[in-house]
Amino acid sequence: MHALVYHGPGKKAWEEKPVPEIIKPTDAIVKILKTTICGTDLHIMKGDVPEVTDGRIIGHEGVGVVEQTGSGVTNFKKGDHVLISCITSCGKCDYCKKGMYSHCEDGGWILGHLIDGTQAEYVRIPHADNSLYHIPAGADEEALVMLSDILPTGFECGVLNGRVKPGDTVAIVGSGPIGLAALLTAQFYSPAEIIMIDPDQNRLEVAKTFGATQFINNSWESVAERIKELTNGKGVDTAIEAVGIPATFELCTEIIGPGGTVANIGVHGKSATLHLETLWAQNITITTRLVDTVTTPMLLKTVQSEKLKPNQLITHHFRLDQVMDAYETFGNAAKEKALKVIMTNE
Ligand SMILES: NC(=O)c1ccc[n+]([C@@H]2O[C@H](COP(=O)([O-])OP(=O)(O)OC[C@H]3O[C@@H](n4cnc5c(N)ncnc54)[C@H](O)[C@@H]3O)[C@@H](O)[C@H]2O)c1
Ligand SMILES: [Zn+2]
Ligand SMILES: [Zn+2]
Repeated sequence: MHALVYHGPGKKAWEEKPVPEIIKPTDAIVKILKTTICGTDLHIMKGDVPEVTDGRIIGHEGVGVVEQTGSGVTNFKKGDHVLISCITSCGKCDYCKKGMYSHCEDGGWILGHLIDGTQAEYVRIPHADNSLYHIPAGADEEALVMLSDILPTGFECGVLNGRVKPGDTVAIVGSGPIGLAALLTAQFYSPAEIIMIDPDQNRLEVAKTFGATQFINNSWESVAERIKELTNGKGVDTAIEAVGIPATFELCTEIIGPGGTVANIGVHGKSATLHLETLWAQNITITTRLVDTVTTPMLLKTVQSEKLKPNQLITHHFRLDQVMDAYETFGNAAKEKALKVIMTNE
């Protein structure tokens, strides 16, 4: 088969690799139908995720069809159409029992990270019973690729951790695919205002069509000033950090109102300053989370009923063997006006 292989910072190739085989009875081999590229894959390509070693197949999102199952797999059989979760979970360890799949003692985020991933013609999925989801007949499979990672991430780490409630004022810092996924799923709870903040005007325009109510382009506007105006000086109820740099986390702690919640989603590589000298008396909560994907079955239902329309996030299409071009496009997202790129294994 062919796969996208990482060869150290800045080096990748679409090359021949052996088709994966069942290693443990709980494994399944899935033929990829559609996959995509995540912002995290770009971090890997830059060398920001040093656990990813030379020779690793990248990718942690996708839908496919089960090709083979180990003797211990009971929920799936050859021919089943499946959604692949970016998080692998055994369903049996202490963390899995608490619904914290991201910390599974024999899983977590391993796909395209510690084991070979989904930007390939075939992938091995460990703990298949708990890490795959059946795709309902007639579903838009392409749209479901958004459920592997970005929608559960925006929802769990941003909206649930951020305790978004009816009538609230929510600020989302970063209008990339994750910030937009938080925007889409925040609307389950009918907040009064959703304020999007990003220096990329195109992404703010997209946010407008996704239901946001206020827009701040922080390449020319002071966010703190505008938020003061918009909230009568009070600050927001929920501030969702969806970028992953110190400045945006610090901004969230600046715009949060008394009693509010700062929900961090971004992957951070540097320490940020926490101004406890001003925050200690503000009754605020700060949360962090690695996506658990425990809400995937619920999100699947909302997609089925068209309450959630994740295909809005897809801007570009490629064949899987054009993955190098797909990286070019996704890597120049602002210029290309790209959100999510879909690659189809034809
Ligand atoms: N916690 C988790 O489990 C989890 C899971 C997946 C992704 N993530 C992280 O979420 C973050 C967002 O992911 P993404 O795919 O949307 O990334 P992205 O790079 O596509 O989008 C980030 C957005 O932030 C904007 N931005 C940059 N600087 C900014 C600033 N100073 N102020 C406001 N906006 C700014 C960019 O213009 C862009 O639109 C990343 O850090 C990613 O690694 C976390
Ligand atoms: Zn991802
Ligand atoms: Zn587990």
